Amino acid sequence: MTKEEAKKRINELRKLLHYHNYRYYVLDDPVISDAEYDAMMEELKKLEKEFPEFYDPNSPTVKVGGEPLNRFEKVEHKIPMLSLEDGFSDEEIVEFDRRVKRFLGLSPDEIIDYSVEPKFDGLSINLIYENGKLTTASTRGDGLVGENVTQNIRTIRNLPLVLPIENPPEYLDLQGEVLLEKDEFKRINEERLKEGLPLFANPRNAAAGSVRQLDPKETAKRNLIMILYYIRDIKGFSKEISRQSEALNLLKELGFPISDLNRLCHGVDEAISYKKELEAKRDTLPYELDGIVLKVDRFDYQKQLGNTTKSPRWAIAFKFPAQQATTKIKDIEVNVGRTGILTPVAILEPVNIGGVVVSRASLHTMDEIEKKDIMIGDTVFVQRAGDVIPEVVKVVKDLRDGTQKKFKMPDFCPICGSKVVKDGAYYRCSNINCPKVLKESIKHFVSRKAMNIDGFGDKIIEQLVDKGIVKDVSDIYKLDKETLMNLDRVGEKLAENLITAISRSKGTTFAKFIYALGIRHVGEFVAKLLAERFKNLENLKKATKEQLLEINGVGEEIADSVVSFFSEKKNLETIDKLLSYGIHFEDETKKKSSIAGKSFVFTGTLSKPREYFKELVEKHGGIVRNSVSKNLDYLVVGENPGSKLQKAQKAGVNIITEQELLDMLEG
Ligand code: IVH
Repeated sequence: MTKEEAKKRINELRKLLHYHNYRYYVLDDPVISDAEYDAMMEELKKLEKEFPEFYDPNSPTVKVGGEPLNRFEKVEHKIPMLSLEDGFSDEEIVEFDRRVKRFLGLSPDEIIDYSVEPKFDGLSINLIYENGKLTTASTRGDGLVGENVTQNIRTIRNLPLVLPIENPPEYLDLQGEVLLEKDEFKRINEERLKEGLPLFANPRNAAAGSVRQLDPKETAKRNLIMILYYIRDIKGFSKEISRQSEALNLLKELGFPISDLNRLCHGVDEAISYKKELEAKRDTLPYELDGIVLKVDRFDYQKQLGNTTKSPRWAIAFKFPAQQATTKIKDIEVNVGRTGILTPVAILEPVNIGGVVVSRASLHTMDEIEKKDIMIGDTVFVQRAGDVIPEVVKVVKDLRDGTQKKFKMPDFCPICGSKVVKDGAYYRCSNINCPKVLKESIKHFVSRKAMNIDGFGDKIIEQLVDKGIVKDVSDIYKLDKETLMNLDRVGEKLAENLITAISRSKGTTFAKFIYALGIRHVGEFVAKLLAERFKNLENLKKATKEQLLEINGVGEEIADSVVSFFSEKKNLETIDKLLSYGIHFEDETKKKSSIAGKSFVFTGTLSKPREYFKELVEKHGGIVRNSVSKNLDYLVVGENPGSKLQKAQKAGVNIITEQELLDMLEG
């Protein structure tokens, strides 16, 4: 196949696949079989691999997820992303309607049309489409600046990357919600439970966590969906719209998924009864709603009403009551976690909240107990709000009868009997060798995202610690087949598999190793930042608080925790032992390409849009930044460069042309 032929076929396939995605995911009305679809997708993947010069960030093949990022860039929202005022009672909604009319100078008997829409309980996302193509997707952030999550949003199946219409608007600024359907949420948590990973509290957290994955392939696996509800700005389009209800229809015509529960209500009473209707249906819907949103339908009214600093005056969220019930606290137990912190847990008289029986609720900290004035024997409101981890909301003090008892943190660890010490807001077991701490640390150490030692289940860990075979995580690497076979329920095959898994885990990445150490407040993301900044263990061990704070994404708490971790002799000894057993780091990035891990800034006009080069650099493991600093690796200069050039020259940054960048990618 010649280059020209390939280009033609690639374009053809992309167009067809975009169209069939739209038929399948938006209209729910496919016109070809799955097999035909798969065949086209395979053909496209093959051609794209063979002819990488036709790379397109919006190709239908990105739905499986592109290359991982090192971090998310910041994006300034062209228009601030406001929030919504909340109302909880019918009266508050009636009052909102009165206020709207007063503001507009209308008579109180006037009937206002409201676009009434579900209030989706997900993660709000800003989307920019230029000439019908998705160019940027960002989170809300603080409303002014969010994070660039374009790569991840591109994996969402029901979101069109290229609009399936002939003359799309030149510019579109939209808002919608990323959601995880309840079934998907359940599936993901079940999987996490099996893998020993912490569970997501609710679909919203799971959706947010999925969008904030650095590896788009992980996001792609989560089967997120997106629903659009707001045209924030539209330019260069033939059709005029003057109402929110028309905007929703237009979104649909443009090929976007919208809710089929939107309804135009004539007057506030209709809106209130629609809320009751939806509330009754709430449990039967595939995703979670936390209320409805009333929006004044007419744009001219919206314009007159304007915004306060926080929210538009033309809209209000009418929230459903959270799912709550009252029950009694029978006792308060203390749970010891990986970092030795004691967490109080309320043991409840079992109670059914929205179909789920709840018998335990974390009380988080002693401060929380004091703030809420919780006593053993109290009757309390417990809230689930779709949550897996229920919460004690407040105490019904009128029901106290004098039998209630104050809870006190134990002076000694319930596991090992060592002294409990206060550490800021937390109480902690003072014994760094506390068996529970050790067990939890090992569970973390062997987990998939850490050293990834397959088959190392809780039961095995319990026995190894209880029998004194493993005294710190490095002892794992001293285990042999015979020792393992002496444990309950470990046969020869399992022992062999474990030994292989242990040995295989020795080759890891620096970031995974840092994460595995279980330093407080250092999760997977921060571990990657640390690995990127310090490159090797020697540097990391010597890292000062100041150096740590220079990292975007590292605050006081993390910096203190890292410094304190590496100042403990025992930790340093464990690390040395681990290295002596053969743990080594494979440089993931180096293998990929010479630009992996390097940072780039662009200035001036390039031969193709910046987005193209940005994707290209990221695809090869590079990082694209917005501003020049002395830590920058390369400034790529196009025609008519801006002030960044001077700044880079001053800072001694490497300055290269577009061609030089392309050469680096080939080399
Ligand atoms: S309109 C200017 N419509 O609620 C405000 N928001 O509490 C534009 N939300 O950040 C928002 N469903 O994440 C709008 N049908 C809907 C919504 C909705 C959910 C979220 C959105 C927003 C938050 C405000």
